[in-house]
Amino acid sequence: MKIVFTRKIPTELVEPLKEKYDIFMWDRENEPMPYERLLQEMKDADAVFTNVADRIDKQLIEQSPSLKVISTMAVGYDNIDMEAATARGIAVGHTPGVLTEATADLTFTLLVATSRRIVEGMDVIRRNEWQSWGPFLLTGQSLYKATIGIIGMGRIGQGVARRAKGFDMNILYHNRSRKPEAEAELGAVYCSIEELLRQSDYVVLLAPSTPETKNMISHEQFEMMKKTAVFINTSRGTNVDEEALYQALKEEKIFAAGLDVFETEPISNDHPLLTLHNVIALPHIGSANVETRMKMATLAIENIEKGLAGERLTHIVNDEIYGNGK
Ligand code: GLV
Ligand code: GLV
Repeated sequence: MKIVFTRKIPTELVEPLKEKYDIFMWDRENEPMPYERLLQEMKDADAVFTNVADRIDKQLIEQSPSLKVISTMAVGYDNIDMEAATARGIAVGHTPGVLTEATADLTFTLLVATSRRIVEGMDVIRRNEWQSWGPFLLTGQSLYKATIGIIGMGRIGQGVARRAKGFDMNILYHNRSRKPEAEAELGAVYCSIEELLRQSDYVVLLAPSTPETKNMISHEQFEMMKKTAVFINTSRGTNVDEEALYQALKEEKIFAAGLDVFETEPISNDHPLLTLHNVIALPHIGSANVETRMKMATLAIENIEKGLAGERLTHIVNDEIYGNGK
């Protein structure tokens, strides 16, 4: 059986597989496999190890007749045509859980860095513009006892809330369903999106990317936010109307934004958002610590091996392929 790895991952993870499987591994670590090449390699593949930068669409699924498992090294699976995969009974695996704390760390890092203008501060020194201590030089927003509003209170959202508790923040949240455990343990208060946007000093977006969440934060939502609000997005760029975000920042309808994700990735250094002083932009590194990425890759391999052995994947997206109703 053949497994296609669309990206180079550490040899120690792949080597043991070579005894049992025919392995194709793309030889670049930071460059995606061209779509046409992927199509070609998938023609006789039984499983694919993929990531957020690959497009696993209907055409690719249809032209991979032996495909049994699609395993993404990510929690989000919006790059995969789930309908096409499920229709063919192909198991789709992902890696929730193991990346929760790393992604919550990065989300909170962006919150702190953006509120206190950390990158702007370093730039002042780099440009040799630090003339003297200034009473209001690079003044930002308070964190201590501020109100944080978390949209999408899944595992990562709750991880962010636990960190916010350390800063004595008031925690508001919005989610499709109430989270009684987060309310009890973290004192998080459920509210409507509108109420959350109006009251929060920090608006943190952690909703998955679905047709319903596309552009869920647009002009109207930025209008509701405080002028001093900091907006953080570590979920998916498609959840935010980027043009509306640009305008809100440019016209100072909000204070600043910290972004790890963009509508179309990668962005280049001519992206309009980068012309603004009040943006911190990162190249989609939410889960990027060594330990976490090793765990994600290991879990994604485990999903493949289980799928190819005819077992239920450890973390399956489309459980309905086993006849478990959804
Ligand atoms: C990364 O964005 C992920 O979904 O894990
Ligand atoms: C991801 O693991 C989430 O549920 O937030």
